[in-house]
Amino acid sequence: MLALIQEVHEHIEAVSGIEMSPIDWASTPKRELGDVAIPCFKLSKLLGKSPVEVAKELAEKIAPRLCNTSLIEKVAPTGPYLNVFFSAKNFSAELFKKLEDLKNFGNSRIGAGKTITIDLSSPNIAKELALHHLRSTAIGNALANIAELQGFKVVRINYLGDWGTAHGKNILALQKYGSEAELNEKGVAYMLELYVRFHQASKENPELNTEAKAMFSALEKGDIEARRIWNLFRDLSIAEFKKVYTRLNIRFDYFDGESMYESRLNHVVKEIEEKIGTRVSEGALVCDLPGHENPVLLRKDDGASLYMTRDLVAIEDRFNRFHYDLNWYVVAVQQKLHFKQLFDLATALKKPFAGRSEHLSFGMLSFGSKTMKSREGNVIFLGDVLDEAKSRASEIIKAKNPDLKDSDQVAEMIGTGAILFFDLSQNRNHDIRFEWEKALSFDGDTAPFVQYAHARCTSLLTKGAKHLASLKASENSDISSLLNEPPVRQLLGDLMFFEVFAERAFNDRDPSQIATAVLNVAKSLNQLYHKIRFLDETTVERLKFLLELTASTQKVLAHGLQVLGIRAPREM
Ligand code: ARG
Repeated sequence: MLALIQEVHEHIEAVSGIEMSPIDWASTPKRELGDVAIPCFKLSKLLGKSPVEVAKELAEKIAPRLCNTSLIEKVAPTGPYLNVFFSAKNFSAELFKKLEDLKNFGNSRIGAGKTITIDLSSPNIAKELALHHLRSTAIGNALANIAELQGFKVVRINYLGDWGTAHGKNILALQKYGSEAELNEKGVAYMLELYVRFHQASKENPELNTEAKAMFSALEKGDIEARRIWNLFRDLSIAEFKKVYTRLNIRFDYFDGESMYESRLNHVVKEIEEKIGTRVSEGALVCDLPGHENPVLLRKDDGASLYMTRDLVAIEDRFNRFHYDLNWYVVAVQQKLHFKQLFDLATALKKPFAGRSEHLSFGMLSFGSKTMKSREGNVIFLGDVLDEAKSRASEIIKAKNPDLKDSDQVAEMIGTGAILFFDLSQNRNHDIRFEWEKALSFDGDTAPFVQYAHARCTSLLTKGAKHLASLKASENSDISSLLNEPPVRQLLGDLMFFEVFAERAFNDRDPSQIATAVLNVAKSLNQLYHKIRFLDETTVERLKFLLELTASTQKVLAHGLQVLGIRAPREM
């Protein structure tokens, strides 16, 4: 698609002398009207003519420039639009060739030589991953993949919440109510049990909170026993997180934690003192930033360091280590003020990396409480959600395809895929409400729908290849009537549009663009498949083309799903 648009733009520039902006196009309401529409409103202003006139004139001037190697077959004006018909022959040849390098399909190379650091998932330790960690993890991973596809070097950082007074409580709770043997056996779930118990006890005995504070301060000072237990929590937590991350098809380059920045806090506070100035407010150390109504909290009244101060050290550390061009944080919208303060602090400090950071926020994900039982403390664990998804997918498979090989693995791919896609296919800024039936439906805008189309390609290709072997070479090798079939053109267009969606997904930091692209391809494949029966084909050339188109479709579906972090079974 990009090459086609480029060619259109070159023609327009040549005949009108006007420079076109990169993605100035629309899709046509009906295929019969053309494959792509170029709106002529902006051009009309520049040329001082009505858009209808502009469309007509452009069509007349461009027509003689088209040749038999052109990706464009025809241009025609429709009202204020210049409609373009691609040459299915040249267009498909270009597409098939491009897909030989599938990994780079959709790569506009805007990221070549540039680095993005991305802060994603970032749970607090000594707790299991819960449902509320899904969005940062899923959206973050998809955005990382989207940036990678555009040629960026991406550094994935899981910024663990492994510091703070809560860990004083955790250590104390283990010492008072638990045993290490049980901790090693039960893992992090046990920590939550102890934490809940501690919390309850502290309501009756507030002394416990003072003790916990003292324990955290011992940890800060490097008390050997406190450190040892804290390390145990950390290691167990990471091991447990990794199990879920593997199921979600996600890897990290670094598990950096907040604790990493403890020793460098004083330095940054001093820098703020010198460059911006600080003051003491209600015992806490704060600083005022222009344009901010509320002061930024730097140190608490008890001297404890803060989330903000640690993030300020981290933002600089990431720059020093990775020299990022862009620095992303995929964190819930509730932390909007935090990141605004952080970024504005960097500006006020005149840091060389100021202006490179973005808070890519997202809305809330809720889950009907009746559809998922929660364990202690009303928390829904992510691992439990994935288990439930898998078992529901497994039931569906049993009903649809009881003889499926590797059905256990396929159920995992469908279940996990359904959850990821449900999240990623919606605008990330919206609040979303999860529903099993919607997410797992085989004929909605879902992962199973796209995965099913992918698996259908396998069967079309296998059956088609057999049929092809039975056909005799034909005299008539002309496939132009096939190339003019609307479902063929539609599918070709949607395959190429993937490139446009991939670039938009990056520009808008929006994974749902990729979801839309694969949904369109899957829908168009279904239309093709219902209209043209491969096994009724009688000529070698036509069937060969259909099989190549199907193979390309399967590649693009797998590629798009992979960008979203979703696996595609070959059979289901
Ligand atoms: N651990 C934090 C939380 O659970 C999220 C951290 C986000 N990243 C950051 N650099 N502040 O809310």
